[in-house]
Amino acid sequence: MQDKVKEIYQEVEAYNLETPEQVEKFRVAYVGRKGVIADLFDQLKNAAPEERRALGAELNALKNFAQSRLATVQQHLENARTNGQSAPPADLTLPVVPNQLGTIHPLTLVRARIVQIFERIGFNVSEGPEIEDDWHNFSALNFPENHPAREMQDTFFVERNPDVALRTHTSSVQVRLMETQKPPIRSIMPGRVYRNEAISARANCTFHQVEGLFVDENVSFADLKQTLYHFTREMFGKQTRIRFRPSYFPFTEPSAEMDISCGLHEPGVCQLCGGAKNICKGTGWVEIGGSGMVDPNVLENCGIDSQKYTGFAFGMGIERITMLRYQIKDLRLFTENDVRFLRQFTGLG
Ligand code: DAH
Repeated sequence: MQDKVKEIYQEVEAYNLETPEQVEKFRVAYVGRKGVIADLFDQLKNAAPEERRALGAELNALKNFAQSRLATVQQHLENARTNGQSAPPADLTLPVVPNQLGTIHPLTLVRARIVQIFERIGFNVSEGPEIEDDWHNFSALNFPENHPAREMQDTFFVERNPDVALRTHTSSVQVRLMETQKPPIRSIMPGRVYRNEAISARANCTFHQVEGLFVDENVSFADLKQTLYHFTREMFGKQTRIRFRPSYFPFTEPSAEMDISCGLHEPGVCQLCGGAKNICKGTGWVEIGGSGMVDPNVLENCGIDSQKYTGFAFGMGIERITMLRYQIKDLRLFTENDVRFLRQFTGLG
């Protein structure tokens, strides 16, 4: 009987267990209740009493071996089956769930358009820091110390240090450019600016400007006018009217403010603020920025020879331009992030 046990042990060990059918045959033949191993257990009672104990132990070992082989192979087969079918079959008839697409913010759209217009006529794009020192935001731009012109721009100072402030305009970037580059300089500088102002439909404490600077030999006021005229026609259409009003800025001489007709093509007819007239104040014109010839003092402050070079500069409000372009009546909409407003710009740009 001992030989028989050995023989079965070898059979169990060598049994080819690859297909589910083979596994089932193996189970019936060896592990099942009517299998050979169960038979041998039955025959145990016929064995000589002194051999029974040792034989019983051998038989138990054989039984455990056969059972564990079976269990291992069954587990493998089960894994292979579920791996192959882990995902339920796709239902190709299900309706498509549309992706929720975001939209580009209108100010971003307009900024991109401004950049595109100026790049085509040879301007590059520059940026500067939003936290500025007094020199770049004021002094280099010809704002005398303690001069009331500084009060025109209600400044947010950082940590009570009068030398560190949130920039009140992008003109500070002009200074940084002229300090580090040699003419010819032809650049626009879009960016966020900050002013301590009461929030209304027309004003916010943070908004965006785009600064422009052209410094070279023989740059004239006519160049400034033509450049800005080109810009407004590209931005708002060929019949757009603009007007320049004499003005004052410490860093330009002469200086001019630039208006654009808010009826766009018919001055006097305000399509933007309509009856409320809260944007154009009933005049039909909206100011979009300041401009002028760079003051020789500013050129000299930045190390540029004012005998040799002249330049023009301008600064425009991107919110204003966006309001005119998309007929937006209240600039608080730009910062409220109301998706009903933002969704209207889907697919633009
Ligand atoms: N920095 C001015 C402002 O914030 C705008 C401005 C006026 C910029 C005239 C210029 C300029 O470059 O030449 O109101």
